[in-house]
Amino acid sequence: MIPRLGVNIDHVATLRQLRGTPYPDLLEAARLCERGGAEQITIHLREDRRHIQDADLFALRKSVRVPLNLEISLEPKMLKIARKAAPDWICLVPEKRQEVTTEGGLDVVKQRRRIKNAIKLFAKSKTKISLFVEPEAAIMKLCKELGAHAVELHTGRYCLAAQKGFGARSTKVEAAELNRIELAGHAAAQLGLHVNAGHGLDYQNIKPILAIRRENEHPLIEEYNIGHVIVCRAAIVGIEQATREMANLVRSEL
Ligand code: PXP
Repeated sequence: MIPRLGVNIDHVATLRQLRGTPYPDLLEAARLCERGGAEQITIHLREDRRHIQDADLFALRKSVRVPLNLEISLEPKMLKIARKAAPDWICLVPEKRQEVTTEGGLDVVKQRRRIKNAIKLFAKSKTKISLFVEPEAAIMKLCKELGAHAVELHTGRYCLAAQKGFGARSTKVEAAELNRIELAGHAAAQLGLHVNAGHGLDYQNIKPILAIRRENEHPLIEEYNIGHVIVCRAAIVGIEQATREMANLVRSEL
C-alpha cells in the first residue's frame, strides 16, 4: 500500500478573498495539483466562508478528476450543501468562528448523536465519511460504531512540537505526540477504519510519520491531507512543483 496525497487548496482561495480579485483560479490550481501528483483535492467550506465559497465547491465538483474531499462542520445547513455537492469524501470537522484554523479534533463522545445522524444522511449515497479526531486510541472504537469509514488523525500538536512551538518542551512533546499518532493509528486500522492524517504537516515533519509501519510492514497512514505548506511552497516554485515534491515524499520508501 502506497500512501496518497490529498492537497488542500483552501489557501489558494484565501489569496483571492484577501483582495476580492477574480484570481487565482481555483480550478487551474486543482488541475496543476493533479499534474503534480495529487490523488485527491481537499477543500473546507467554512461557515464563515473565509476562503472556499459555495460556487467553488460546485465548480470543483464538476472539474476535478481525482476524488474530492470536502471538510465540513456538523451544522445542518452545511450538511445540506454537502449532500447537494455529493463529494467522494466528507471529513467532518469541528469549527469555531475565531480560530485561525481547525484547532482540535471532533469531540466524538459529546457529539456522538450529531455525528451519527450526520453519517446517516449519507448512508444511501456514494459519499464516504471520515472523522477528524485527536490521535487518541481510546476513541477509535466509538468512531467505528458511529459508522465512519475513516478517521483523519489531527497531527497539529505533533507538528507544532516538531516546529519547536513548545520551546524547551518541544522534543518531549514531539515524541509523545508521535507515539499517540502511532497508537491511535494502529487501533483504528485494527477496527477496519481507513487511517488518514493531516494538519500542520510540512516537508520535514511528515517523515517520522511516513516511517510508521503496520505489522505487515505497510505504512500505517493511508492518506495525508496537506494544505498550508504546499501553498506556501507554491509561492516559490509553483503549485505543480510544490505538490510534486510532497507527492514524491509521501510515495517514497523511507
Ligand atoms: N485536514 C483537516 C481536517 C483540516 O482541517 C486541515 C486544515 O484545513 C488540513 C487537513 C490541512 O492542514 P494544513 O493546511 O495545516 O496542511
